[in-house]
Amino acid sequence: MTPVAKVAMVSGGNRGIGLAIARELLAHGWRVSLGARSGAVDIADGRLRVYRFDAEDKQSETDWVAGTVRDFGGIDALVHNAGTLSTRSVIEADDDEVDRLLEVNVKSPLRLTRKAWPHLLAAREGKVLVMASLAAKRVRTADASLYALSKAAVLSLAHGIRHCGAEARVRCTALCPGFVATDMAAWLPEEQRRQATRPEDIARIARTVLELPASASVAEIPISWTVEPQY
Ligand SMILES: NC(=O)c1ccc[n+]([C@@H]2O[C@H](COP(=O)([O-])OP(=O)(O)OC[C@H]3O[C@@H](n4cnc5c(N)ncnc54)[C@H](OP(=O)(O)O)[C@@H]3O)[C@@H](O)[C@H]2O)c1
Repeated sequence: MTPVAKVAMVSGGNRGIGLAIARELLAHGWRVSLGARSGAVDIADGRLRVYRFDAEDKQSETDWVAGTVRDFGGIDALVHNAGTLSTRSVIEADDDEVDRLLEVNVKSPLRLTRKAWPHLLAAREGKVLVMASLAAKRVRTADASLYALSKAAVLSLAHGIRHCGAEARVRCTALCPGFVATDMAAWLPEEQRRQATRPEDIARIARTVLELPASASVAEIPISWTVEPQY
């Protein structure tokens, strides 16, 4: 009997890294429940369904999880990809900006994980993938400091989820990319943008992690377009 294709929820899957992950998973037999603010996605595939998801709207999180379980019958993997950038420093940013960044980059992934948790426990070897950043691991400039704060927090969230899922064999991995050639890195100088990591490369790594057995638990993967002293 052919095994039923696994189901992955991918947030912010309408463009950039999330879209590349959705394409990669579909190309390798997964079914994909894609969460997007706009609800519009440039993929035609019967194994894909798109749900409205806005990280600043808690009800949309509840509805997305419920819709996925209703339409696909379960959740095998949850990919926290949606994220937003701030170029304000921790001194410059006002409370609203801090709250918005933490809401989108940290609190929404936390809430979504809790809502999907019973389904991940019910899956055979459920998986959570958190798109953190190398910014979570080192703060190189003032301009990057608020974004880094949010990514350091979501990296800790990934480690927390990893521990929560240990016994049930739900594995959680944080990917920590440096510059990736998407809209978020559009400000990079042309030469550096050309050398930046491709979203498709992140997607290949993401799929590999999602397809590993629970006996190969990977906590973090730092990924750099260049060579830094530690990464
Ligand atoms: N690009 C890089 O250099 C880089 C490096 C390290 C980590 N990352 C992380 O990788 C992830 C994907 O980034 P990307 O490079 O693909 O950036 P991107 O092209 O700017 O895409 C960001 C995605 O997040 C979604 N998003 C933003 N705010 C949202 C909200 N409130 N609710 C729902 N979705 C929201 C966007 O949806 P809309 O289309 O509706 O705006 C879009 O799908 C992010 O978490 C980012 O922090 C990126």
